[in-house]
Amino acid sequence: MACPAASGPVPAGPAEVRRLDADVPGAIGRMLDHVLAERLRRARLADPLFAEELAARVTRFTVRGGKRTRAQLVWWASRACAGRDPDAAAAALRIAGAVELLQTCALVHDDVMDRATLRRGRPTLHTDLAARYADRVGPERAQRFGQSAAVLAGDLALAWADDAVAETPLASWTGVVVRRLWSDMRTEMVAGQYLDIQGQNTTALSLLRVLRAARLKSALYSVERPLALGAAVTGADDVTLRRLTDAGRCVGLAFQLRDDLDDVFGDPRETGKACGGDIREGKPTYLVAVARARAEAAGNGAALAVLDRWLGDAALTERGLEQVRAVLTETRARATVEGKIDRLAAQGLRHLDAALLDAEGAGPLRGLLLAAAGARPGGDTAVRPRPAPDPYATRDCGGTGSDR
Ligand code: IPE
Ligand code: MG
Ligand code: MG
Ligand code: MG
Repeated sequence: MACPAASGPVPAGPAEVRRLDADVPGAIGRMLDHVLAERLRRARLADPLFAEELAARVTRFTVRGGKRTRAQLVWWASRACAGRDPDAAAAALRIAGAVELLQTCALVHDDVMDRATLRRGRPTLHTDLAARYADRVGPERAQRFGQSAAVLAGDLALAWADDAVAETPLASWTGVVVRRLWSDMRTEMVAGQYLDIQGQNTTALSLLRVLRAARLKSALYSVERPLALGAAVTGADDVTLRRLTDAGRCVGLAFQLRDDLDDVFGDPRETGKACGGDIREGKPTYLVAVARARAEAAGNGAALAVLDRWLGDAALTERGLEQVRAVLTETRARATVEGKIDRLAAQGLRHLDAALLDAEGAGPLRGLLLAAAGARPGGDTAVRPRPAPDPYATRDCGGTGSDR
């Protein structure tokens, strides 16, 4: 029997690698189409109802995709390390597809945990499934069903992601490194999600703890590990791997800090997500932790009262959210986070620039990292030797988790 990994939309030579550069999300989409058509076919063999209602939803969600940031990071990191080597590019494309499937798992589960209703501009998978069954079994049972089914959908996506990694042909030592990174990434993400939901139960979290949660739940799997995976599939040397990892650590944290800002101040038409979920759920974000620390230090009882009133309140109103926004702005927590994002982006780029990379890949990788960091166009991303001190963290990046 032919191995499914032995065929597929992978580049046949250096010229084709170069051609794929023009539309990397498209190339990743074609890879996912190819891989998931086979998975769906096999799901139908297992059971047609399961295939139609669950496996097809996982497939659609993944194939439609989002910005494909993580997958593009894998691609461009590999291009920056191995140039136009077609074998490296093929492996990068497969691992990029696996990362997108892991992202499906992460988001589907995350939306259940965060009780989110909107994702990528559409109803979240669990709300969509609940709506489908509401007429038949009533809203309460349908809601429970939707959540349970979403647990299974996330599991399926994770299983398919693991399959995609296992089916990627890699030289033996390269395979060891890639599989180790992959394994760590999955564990880190689960650890971070645990810290996130555990942190909802207490308001007295140190800034270091909230940064650790942000790094684990998002920074690592969103930026740091995709970069490392892209480098690792090429068999990159330790120094290069280290530099890209360092860049990813900084940019990854910036990425999540921007996500936290967007949750409160962003436009749902752009984010594809509803506003205020973190406030309603009482999430332990750095943004809120800074506001609280500032309000406490200044003896600002009114600001603390607003935070205590609305954080973790499932009945958060638009007026309540406006009050929270005002507190985050007036305590300058918002400005502090913006500044930190800019500095993290600059630090990340410094690490990237210190790596010896192929120019053809390094340029787009730089742009992608800058976009992922969500740094302000006119922000403080100029590369400077010494970043301004930040009283709200020991270091801007690093020091927030174990570092391999
Ligand atoms: C969760 O962070 C990251 C993962 C999905 C593992 P968030 O809960 O902040 O992500 P969004 O804002 O819902 O996308
Ligand atoms: Mg969420
Ligand atoms: Mg979450
Ligand atoms: Mg968020």
